[in-house]
Amino acid sequence: MPPIQWYPGHMAKTRRMLETQLRRVDAVIELCDARAPLASRNPVLDRMLSGKPRVLVLNKADLADPSATQKWLSHFKAQGIEVCAFDAMHGKGREVIALLEKAVAPAVERMRLRGAVKTARAMIVGIPNVGKSSFVNRCLKRNAVEVGDRPGVTRAEKWLKLTPTLEMMDSPGMLWPRLDDQDAARMLCWLGSLPDDIQDIEDLAETLLRRLMEICPQQVMERFHLEKIEEEDEMQSYLEEACRGRGWLLSGGRLNTERGARLVLDEYRAGKMGRITLETE
Ligand code: G4P
Repeated sequence: MPPIQWYPGHMAKTRRMLETQLRRVDAVIELCDARAPLASRNPVLDRMLSGKPRVLVLNKADLADPSATQKWLSHFKAQGIEVCAFDAMHGKGREVIALLEKAVAPAVERMRLRGAVKTARAMIVGIPNVGKSSFVNRCLKRNAVEVGDRPGVTRAEKWLKLTPTLEMMDSPGMLWPRLDDQDAARMLCWLGSLPDDIQDIEDLAETLLRRLMEICPQQVMERFHLEKIEEEDEMQSYLEEACRGRGWLLSGGRLNTERGARLVLDEYRAGKMGRITLETE
């Protein structure tokens, strides 16, 4: 299989923009995907933050295996990272906000001692598709009041008031996905954080099915009616069997593997196969 490569043309500009945005905030909410919490982070952020407080959010927790998420939370906590799980479709964000308030408390105290009346500021950062916009919208609807543009700031930057002492930048910061580790890159393809057209879609679905068969064979076999599949058979195409099982056929009875591949990926991404975590801690 060819290596996964992707060079977004605007990467240098994105990096500069992110660095500028980071200078304006006191803390960062780093979003990753709870189904692959390492693959969906980019360690470059550590260097860019250089010690600035951060809260890590395992988003899309509603799609991840709850017991795996608990293990990941313990893993990050053991490293001294402030972390919580979140579901940007239904969550209220109170835990994230509480962790953020704790993270910025020293900065707020310093301002108070200097006599400055200033709220601490935070921003969301993450690779594509981890739910950054959903998270901002969620905070906007439930907790936030738009405070509008600040005088003297040239770009249209808005701040959302989360608590009396905490504001959040309305535009999320984009981190680029990491491709140095090809296993991680493949997970990002499965999760939809990289464009589908940079890889052969059928290979992607086949490799995803193989990984899922390792994690939860029963669920996969039932969903795709893979009664005849031999788990040990390297030559057998899981995608073809899934097409056969689900009746994804072209006229003449040929297997519609391209459509099948899209459906397999869509169903995994939407959690239709159940709550499945790809990466074990
Ligand atoms: P981004 O800004 O980081 O790129 O991500 P965005 O918020 O656009 O979310 C990417 C997709 O993930 C969206 O689905 C969004 O609805 C979904 N999503 C975000 N957070 C969560 C979560 O916590 N749980 C679940 N289940 N889904 C989440 P989409 O299909 O691309 O768009 P839409 O049809 O839902 O609008």
